[in-house]
Amino acid sequence: MDKLFVLSFLGLLIASYGVAGKKVRDDIGMLDELEESFDIEEEDNDFNFFDIPPWKSERGGKVLVNVDSFGAAGDGISDDTQAFQKAWDTACSTPQAVLLVPQGRSYLVNATKFQGPCAGGLTVQIEGTIVAPDEPSNWNPKFSRLWLDFSKLEAVLFQGHGVIDGSGSKWWASSCKKNKTNAFTIDSSRSVKVKGLTIQNSQQMTFVISRCDSVRVTGVKVSSPGDSPNTDGIHITQSTNVIIEDSKIGTGDDCVSIVNASFNIKMKRIYCGPGHGISIGSLGKDNSVGVVTRVVLDTAVIRETTNGLRIKTWQGGSGYVQGVRFQNVKMEDVANPIIIDQFYCDSPKSCENQTSAVNITQIIYKNISGTTKSEKAMKFSCSDAVPCSNIVLTNINLEKKDGTVETYCNSAQGFGYGTVHPSADCLSSQDKNSIPIRQTVDAEPERQDIIHTEL
Ligand SMILES: *[C@@H]1O[C@H](CO)[C@@H](O)[C@H](O)[C@H]1NC(C)=O
Ligand SMILES: *[C@@H]1O[C@H](CO)[C@@H](O)[C@H](O)[C@H]1NC(C)=O
Ligand SMILES: *[C@@H]1O[C@H](CO)[C@@H](O)[C@H](O)[C@H]1NC(C)=O
Ligand SMILES: *[C@@H]1O[C@H](CO)[C@@H](O)[C@H](O)[C@H]1NC(C)=O
Ligand SMILES: *[C@@H]1O[C@H](CO)[C@@H](O)[C@H](O)[C@H]1NC(C)=O
Ligand SMILES: *[C@@H]1O[C@H](CO)[C@@H](O)[C@H](O)[C@H]1NC(C)=O
Repeated sequence: MDKLFVLSFLGLLIASYGVAGKKVRDDIGMLDELEESFDIEEEDNDFNFFDIPPWKSERGGKVLVNVDSFGAAGDGISDDTQAFQKAWDTACSTPQAVLLVPQGRSYLVNATKFQGPCAGGLTVQIEGTIVAPDEPSNWNPKFSRLWLDFSKLEAVLFQGHGVIDGSGSKWWASSCKKNKTNAFTIDSSRSVKVKGLTIQNSQQMTFVISRCDSVRVTGVKVSSPGDSPNTDGIHITQSTNVIIEDSKIGTGDDCVSIVNASFNIKMKRIYCGPGHGISIGSLGKDNSVGVVTRVVLDTAVIRETTNGLRIKTWQGGSGYVQGVRFQNVKMEDVANPIIIDQFYCDSPKSCENQTSAVNITQIIYKNISGTTKSEKAMKFSCSDAVPCSNIVLTNINLEKKDGTVETYCNSAQGFGYGTVHPSADCLSSQDKNSIPIRQTVDAEPERQDIIHTEL
């Protein structure tokens, strides 16, 4: 955060709230630290993978492993699963391999597990289309959750101009009756990079990052129709140090969903729509523990979605969401641009009232503007027993095309400064001394370095 701004902000805060200097410094410290630690360093671009296909690179020693050499037909009709499996086995065991899915062809591939660990320097270059079987009744029940599942990888690069197509339409139509799979999963891996791919028409979640450390997703396009059920765009679970940048996501569910045990998640330059917005959660379902810390979204357009920036937790859960920054976001016709919902209930029957809740704290919204579809442009619907705390709003300007806007608060503590429209006066101020800001933020180790040195 720029220091001049911090200083003037300090003055402003003292003037308008009259709080003791130390408390304010703690808050500034928290804001400052979040801002600095959340900066995304630009990538080291000394080698542009798109301009120089790695297998032709003079930096060389790349070994090309083409799926066609293993009998893949690429006609969109023949089953190429075995060819892909064999090509994977070869590429994975060969140092510096490039597994190539050639351009201009369509490969029908059944649910498959592509497992590591692999020899070093593996690139998966997808230029053509990989398409899933489109008939639910033929789906191998052994793979009830997965289509293309990559696991136990280290330092692997997925890239290309190709398409991964989940052929989901028949599953969407038969919404609840059929098991549905996620299209593209990277699981239990570290230092993975995904660049340029299009992933579309998933039966369910489109791109899942689970149990990973250090994943960088750049220039990816994720799409499913707005009315396709549960087709989350990018779903992050139990993962740390994930960067998603320059990506366009349109789906029938959350554009990005970040769930339990995920820390240090950064999103930059994201386009989201249609869909349900960018979500943290849901967390705390069935009285479970949910923890998510250090999430930043910087620079996004969210267009015609049902939610914009959302944190959703179930009653009865425990754990916490701490240290979230949403900034520089443009909303266009979003139904709930800013929403914290500690009463999330995605269930056919209504959820029982419970006192325990996932604790939501240190949530910063900065420079968020645009249009809302609903009157309540900001909703902070928090638990009476576990109030949301340290919600900070600045430079907010949300308008409704035909009508007034307002903020709804229940049990939400925090403050706004600078322009905040609609006004956030319903946030209650709090005793800032009670919040051990420094310690908790410091407790998370900084692991950003990994992404930059090992990819
Ligand atoms: C995929 O697997 C299922 C179940 O084992 C099988 O019936 C089907 O023929 C396979 N291939 C394709 C392309 O669906
Ligand atoms: C769904 O998956 C479960 C295993 O996870 C399996 O027992 C069941 O048969 C599958 N149902 C359908 C309709 O494929
Ligand atoms: C959430 O993650 C924590 C570890 O951080 C774990 O203890 C807890 O069981 C997880 N909750 C669920 C619902 O998996
Ligand atoms: C505020 O956010 C908008 C939209 O992302 C951006 O264009 C603008 O530069 C931001 N303003 C500042 C002062 O950062
Ligand atoms: C839960 O609490 C709300 C608000 O206090 C109340 O309106 C609602 O009737 C309660 N629901 C149940 C199932 O007790
Ligand atoms: C929620 O977290 C805040 C900040 O860490 C803390 O002050 C507060 O006591 C917690 N609330 C509950 C009910 O545990």
